[in-house]
Amino acid sequence: MADHPTLDPENWADLRQNAHEALDLALDHMAGRSGAPVWQGPTRRVRAAFTDALPGEGTEIRAIADRIASDILPHDVGNTHPAFFGWVHGSGTPAGLVPEMFGAAMNANLGGRDHAANLVEHQVIGWCREMFGFPGDAGGLIVSGTSVATLIALKAARDKAAGLHLRDTGLKRHDGEFVGYASIEAHSCIARAFDILGLGRDALRAIPVDANFRMDTKILRAMIEADRAASRHPFAVIGSAGTVNVGAIDPLAELADIAQENDLWFHVDGAFGASVVLNAALGPLVRGIERADSLAFDFHKWMHVNYDAGFVLMRDAEDQRRAFAERPDYLLGAERGLAAGNPWFCEYGPELSRGFRALKVWFHLLHFGTHRIGAMIGRNCEQARLLRDRVVAHPQLALLAPVGLNITCFRFDPGRTSDADLDALNAEIVIQLQERGLAAPSTTRIDGRLAIRVNLTNHRTRDRDLEDLVENVLSIGGELTAGG
Ligand SMILES: Cc1ncc(COP(=O)(O)O)c(C=O)c1O
Repeated sequence: MADHPTLDPENWADLRQNAHEALDLALDHMAGRSGAPVWQGPTRRVRAAFTDALPGEGTEIRAIADRIASDILPHDVGNTHPAFFGWVHGSGTPAGLVPEMFGAAMNANLGGRDHAANLVEHQVIGWCREMFGFPGDAGGLIVSGTSVATLIALKAARDKAAGLHLRDTGLKRHDGEFVGYASIEAHSCIARAFDILGLGRDALRAIPVDANFRMDTKILRAMIEADRAASRHPFAVIGSAGTVNVGAIDPLAELADIAQENDLWFHVDGAFGASVVLNAALGPLVRGIERADSLAFDFHKWMHVNYDAGFVLMRDAEDQRRAFAERPDYLLGAERGLAAGNPWFCEYGPELSRGFRALKVWFHLLHFGTHRIGAMIGRNCEQARLLRDRVVAHPQLALLAPVGLNITCFRFDPGRTSDADLDALNAEIVIQLQERGLAAPSTTRIDGRLAIRVNLTNHRTRDRDLEDLVENVLSIGGELTAGG
């Protein structure tokens, strides 16, 4: 027993017992997840259970674990279920519980200093270089997700283009407008990064796409020229490797050429699509990605590391360090001792305190290996085409976009109905699929029309889950339209 009060257990045997039981509850949850509804929204009782006042006194672990099991676990998002197809969610793994335990046991801060956890992140950075064919001195950082990775990448791009004095003077002292380019299908996190960086969302030019939802490079070239003629400063072109709506991949090699010819930073948003490099047959789809100045992607999406873990990969690590480095007196490095291990990770991004996300990424890649993860990615693409074929074959279903990767957008269309009614009908079908716990697709708009959007970044999905989805869409659509 400690000789003064601490937050450590008075009885380690009790804690050990409680922790083992909690681990079993967590594993039971994952093992039984596919047998439960895809989604059960929190009930009124559950919502009320989270309105208690701030606790002055503590509660036993077992009682809290029971509450977690009854009030939280059953009401999850559903992305560990095989029939979850919404937005872009990875499906995680039960093995992912293991590194979380060790990470919590170490309670490491990877902002800097000289300790083994940093070696793990350095190894992950090296593996990312290898994965994407980046040079041996490229750098990077593990972050929460692609949104933050994008922000870091575009800050490095902005500071390089405008000059580092901008870090002191701010944009207001800079004459001329900095502009960047992405397709109209690019994810909103890019425009948000422009906003946060003080460039303004209008400075992100939205380039139209071709019939396959890929950026139209002719228009891109014309817009760069027009901006130059108007004395604006083009500084970055952003390609998507897997757009959020339909999974389109911009012509990355051509974008790399255009960036090079125009002296622009080339950033790639590969949130989920970049992961195809792990599949030998699909990898060539993202040819040109290896020429990017920066790449943002997620481990928590199509690679299935448990949330959250994203990554920013930088061709020139110094561009990233120059955009973020701050070493005040109280963070000075040293040649030896704990303050060694320079440069510190805090010099490469906005966070000083950084948890040990690297451990779960490292563990996941080590445990599953890239071949197995790549095979799951390949199967999801086959499944997206299987669903497409079912849709095309049925007279009451309409395909709304070509299937290039892992996303199938379609809708129920019984005919004799206006576009507005079809939008409302399909939105209702999706809600009912979710509320009945049958499946969880999401919706989007394709060419203005509301689509049932089925995103396959799920290693648990079986072909029969997609057959069931088609049946359920048809039967709910039939119920909703019965009697006109
Ligand atoms: C293409 C694309 N880019 C960026 C993001 C943002 O990623 P995150 O949610 O990890 O910040 C997403 C999320 O789905 C995405 O699909």
